[in-house]
Amino acid sequence: MSDSPASLVWLITGCSSGLGRALASAALARGDRVAATARQPAALADLAAAYPDTCRTFALDVTDPAQVTAALAGTVAAFGRLDVLVNNAGYGLVGALEECSEAQIARNFEVNCFGALRVIRTALPQFRAQKGGHVICISAAAAIANYAGFSVYGAAKRALEGAAEALALEGRPFGLKVTLVQPGPFRTDFIARSLDRATTPLPDYEATSGKFARFLGTMDGKQPGDPARAAAAIIAAATADRPPLRLVLGPYATDKVRRTLTASQRELDAWAPVGGPTDFTAGT
Ligand SMILES: NC(=O)c1ccc[n+]([C@@H]2O[C@H](COP(=O)([O-])OP(=O)(O)OC[C@H]3O[C@@H](n4cnc5c(N)ncnc54)[C@H](OP(=O)(O)O)[C@@H]3O)[C@@H](O)[C@H]2O)c1
Repeated sequence: MSDSPASLVWLITGCSSGLGRALASAALARGDRVAATARQPAALADLAAAYPDTCRTFALDVTDPAQVTAALAGTVAAFGRLDVLVNNAGYGLVGALEECSEAQIARNFEVNCFGALRVIRTALPQFRAQKGGHVICISAAAAIANYAGFSVYGAAKRALEGAAEALALEGRPFGLKVTLVQPGPFRTDFIARSLDRATTPLPDYEATSGKFARFLGTMDGKQPGDPARAAAAIIAAATADRPPLRLVLGPYATDKVRRTLTASQRELDAWAPVGGPTDFTAGT
């Protein structure tokens, strides 16, 4: 891994608070040019004032295709190129699958998955024309292995990961890099402000999803992850010659990956004698 000293042009979604805000601030502080976006760009006025030459702000709700197009075009018009696109905008939905409404499920996928794919697809012609770029998606520990009570959120993040894995292969011929960031719990507005909750809690899920929802409540403000240190790690990946496909953030998520790999290996070994010999036998 070696760092490139070149100044980068970033577009980051969801910069009003949390990880997006920390990343925009850190990139600006190192001298990069940043298109900082938010649903309410007034929340970014201080960044624009502090970095008048290198920060542009755009209104961007990832569910609004016209805003996505305008933000991408505005970034290239202002800075001449786009080096790093960060799909950070997102929010959790806590509740068992049965407890969440159809509208809540659709909305969560629309923001966490389809919105991110929309932003990526809109940026791809620019990356192809430049013959390079870097797509970074903020995924979640729920996409490593999911929790009872996070079925929809984990599914949306894992769907995004599936598309991004393929994109990494599809974009390689024109120099595109792709990184999926898997954060553990970070101290942001994720629980207090951004978390949606199932509309119809059911007693049968009290010990699973209900317990998880209560646990999340106790974690607010106590998450061990520091957004500034997450931003530094993401910048290290963005400036590396060979960035990782997955960047796992924090001790919790790192341990979760290790435990998940071990459990998968054990299950594969235990069931390979059953699932393995399923090709046609020779001569058939
Ligand atoms: N913090 C954690 O523990 C954690 C762990 C794993 C993954 N993540 C992921 O990290 C990302 C950032 O979350 P965070 O922790 O920094 O929480 P946050 O402080 O609540 O920030 C979430 C950001 O997403 C924005 N957003 C929500 N819906 C949007 C939409 N439709 N269009 C554009 N922006 C939208 C919010 O904007 P508004 O201000 O307009 O609502 C806000 O700027 C999310 O994708 C989240 O799933 C967080």
